[in-house]
Amino acid sequence: MTDPLTIRNAILADLEAVIALDLVGLAAKETAYWREIFDRYVSAGKDDGFFLVAEANAEVIGFIVGEVRAWEFGSPPCGWVFALGVSPAVREQGVGELMFQEMCARLKRAGVAIVRTMVDRENKLTLSFFRSQGLRSGRYIELEKPLADD
Ligand SMILES: CC(C)(COP(=O)(O)OP(=O)(O)OC[C@H]1O[C@@H](n2cnc3c(N)ncnc32)[C@H](O)[C@@H]1OP(=O)(O)O)[C@@H](O)C(=O)NCCC(=O)NCCS
Repeated sequence: MTDPLTIRNAILADLEAVIALDLVGLAAKETAYWREIFDRYVSAGKDDGFFLVAEANAEVIGFIVGEVRAWEFGSPPCGWVFALGVSPAVREQGVGELMFQEMCARLKRAGVAIVRTMVDRENKLTLSFFRSQGLRSGRYIELEKPLADD
């Protein structure tokens, strides 16, 4: 990275760049998924949902998506970060941290005091990242069960 890094709101023109970044991530999602996320968080202009990208040298090198969710699972309104990715070419240079800090600032201004996320316990990289940002196990426990065929 030579140019200064900018963290800004995503715009519709960022769609292809975000999909390309996600494709190199651990859990690439469908294009249809990203179109829906752009519709909801970029076009609709929610004031309690944030889709941010990191840009350097006129290139999108990272993205983060989060929102305020109220009373889910009985929890008072809190922030959720549910998508995050940084280009492999510029990882471990603080891009993820800057995006996460900006997301936390936006969530705080939206009125919440806690930020949450969910991470696959085998995903050491993502766990290490979120722990470095101060996230710890919270008061809720995820429960699940495979649904057997009838
Ligand atoms: C997780 C991810 C977003 C981190 O982005 P990044 O820009 O490389 O992270 P940063 O440079 O801001 O690192 C912040 C801290 O995270 C931790 N971290 C980052 N990369 C790490 C690695 N490879 N190994 C261990 N810890 C790591 C460190 O504690 C680091 O702090 P330090 O630099 O003081 O050691 C990036 O690796 C990524 O896109 N991974 C693939 C997609 C993914 O897992 N997304 C999350 C699930 S949706």
